Amino acid sequence: MKKIAFVCLGNICRSPMAEFVMKSLTDKYEIQSRATSSWEHGNPIHKGTQGIFRSHGVPYDTSKTSQQISKNDFEYFDYIIGMDESNLADLYQMCPQDQQDKIQAFASESVPDPWYTGDFEETYDRVLTGCQAWLSRLENESENGKYKETL
Ligand code: 4NP
Repeated sequence: MKKIAFVCLGNICRSPMAEFVMKSLTDKYEIQSRATSSWEHGNPIHKGTQGIFRSHGVPYDTSKTSQQISKNDFEYFDYIIGMDESNLADLYQMCPQDQQDKIQAFASESVPDPWYTGDFEETYDRVLTGCQAWLSRLENESENGKYKETL
C-alpha cells in the first residue's frame, strides 16, 4: 500500500483537509498529514476546517493533532505532497538528498491558506479538485507501474 503525506505550514488547516477529503475518496492508500513547522505542534484541526468537514459530510478524526514532518517520515512515505510553493521550498530544504524525488506539488497552483484568507470554502474547493486529480494520478501510476503525469 502506497503511503502518502500531505504537508502544509501548520498541519491544522489545509493538509488535514486534504488528508480527510482524500480518505473519503479512497481506502487504497495510507494517508496522513504533517506540518513543515512545529508552530502548532499538538494542536487540533482548526475549527474552520472542522466546520468544512461537517458541512460537506467528510468523516474525520477529532483526535488528529498537528505533527511536524520528521526524518523518519521522509523515509516512510512514498509521496510527500506540499500544499503550496513555500511548503515545497521548505520540504526540499528539510528532506535528505536521497528522498527528494518523493516531494510533489499538490496542484500546479498553491492552495490558499485559510489561516490568512479566512475562506475555508475556497480552500475546500481547491482541496477537493486536487484530491480527485491525485487519485486518478495514483491509480494511473499503480496500473502502469511507473510515473505518469495526469495533473
Ligand atoms: P496551515 O495554516 O498551514 O494550512 O495549517 C496555518 C496554520 C497556522 C499558522 C499558519 C498557517 N500559524 O502561523 O500558526
